[in-house]
Amino acid sequence: MTSSLDAITTEQEAAKRNLWLHFTRMSTYADSDVPVIVRGSGAYVYDQHGKRYLDGLSGLFVSQVGHGRQEIAEAGARQAGELAYFPLWSYAHPKAIELAQRLADLAPGDLNRVFFTTSGSEAVESSWKLAKQYFKLIGQPDRYKVISRDIAYHGSSMGALAITGLADIKYPFEPMTPGGVRVPNTNFYRAPAFVGDDLEAFGIWAADEIERAILREGPRSVAAVYLEPVQNSGGCFPPPPGYFQRVREICDRYGVLLVSDEVICAFGRLGYYFGAERYGYQPDIITFAKGVTSGYSPLGGMLVSDALMEPFSSGTASFLHGITFAGHPVSAAMALANLDIFEKEDLLGNVRANEAGFRATLEKLLDLPIVGDIRGAGYFYGIELVKDKATRETFSDDESEWLLRGFLSPSLFDAGLPCRCDDRGDPVIQLAPPLICGQEHFDEMEQILRTVLTEAWTRM
Ligand SMILES: Cc1ncc(COP(=O)(O)O)c(C=O)c1O
Repeated sequence: MTSSLDAITTEQEAAKRNLWLHFTRMSTYADSDVPVIVRGSGAYVYDQHGKRYLDGLSGLFVSQVGHGRQEIAEAGARQAGELAYFPLWSYAHPKAIELAQRLADLAPGDLNRVFFTTSGSEAVESSWKLAKQYFKLIGQPDRYKVISRDIAYHGSSMGALAITGLADIKYPFEPMTPGGVRVPNTNFYRAPAFVGDDLEAFGIWAADEIERAILREGPRSVAAVYLEPVQNSGGCFPPPPGYFQRVREICDRYGVLLVSDEVICAFGRLGYYFGAERYGYQPDIITFAKGVTSGYSPLGGMLVSDALMEPFSSGTASFLHGITFAGHPVSAAMALANLDIFEKEDLLGNVRANEAGFRATLEKLLDLPIVGDIRGAGYFYGIELVKDKATRETFSDDESEWLLRGFLSPSLFDAGLPCRCDDRGDPVIQLAPPLICGQEHFDEMEQILRTVLTEAWTRM
């Protein structure tokens, strides 16, 4: 008979021998255990030893309604029993139809058409392919370039990677798909001095940089601009007031599509179904994934305007693109059950009512010498760590390596708060708890962060 300890040891050996973790230095686990999360309930998850963790990042910005929701699990099981699979190539199935209609009803303006994928990268990839084919169909075949922001992450497949603004994760896969063009992001904490004390002027400058990029590249060669409502990579950069309105004007002036990449920001993360609603702009395409099912099953997609669909809707035209599992019946059924919970429990209302409390609780940490900036919106926050608060001096590469990978990531996890410690821009800790959280969860996060950050500063 094997004891539970033996079973855990065998599992560890198999994890180290057979499993390849994503974006992970596998060498990290040469001398330590691979963390194994075995179950979840509400805002908490539990490891193989039964230890409890507050899910500070909703897994990976995914678990909006929290863990262990039986009604979603049952909706998936029912659908698998009835129709586990049929493709959305030439055919439809009822749950894809119902979900497309529901998403079209929730989406802003004339975004009425849903093209499903299985992930965020595929959604971004699909949207670029759509933009390219659309412009060929309407007689503007030279438009293929895409503009996005410094340090922004838009996915890991080759097209999405070309839109991504993170040099380090692109270099091993060069040459990139041609056409990716970069502009400044909206990191006001690191704004250029000439707009450094005027948020609105900074926003207009950053938006106008998009126009300058379009003119530099040649307006007739640019297909689309990709922006997240709040940029994730770099540590939650909200848009300055007026930024998106200016970007919309610029896109209209040059006939360029505006893609709102809402893989993180949709489905309540910012207190609205879509981030574009919160900031009052109308995109031509919204890409989504993650929170649409709260992770109970993989699903992504893009919501597209009537105008964009029009050239594909007559004669022999069709969008020459497809993915076997896109809009999977089980995922679609689970997405519908997920959205039912959003409505029943007014999760958007919960985020809107509590986001000021979340911010205020995190802002208590500003009394620590290592905390330079707290920024974000809704349930989506970044804490920038600095070496010198007065000058905003950041850490060297070696210091950052020790601070984030050597100390903070393992210590926060050990202290019961899995979240993200990232230095793809300047060093930040990111928090994005499930949307069911309230003040008691914010207090728990603050206390863990305070203890661990105080210790980090002492050891620096
Ligand atoms: C804004 C954005 N776009 C695209 C993606 C890629 O999504 P996925 O990992 O589901 O492929 C991500 C993932 O975090 C993202 O944050």
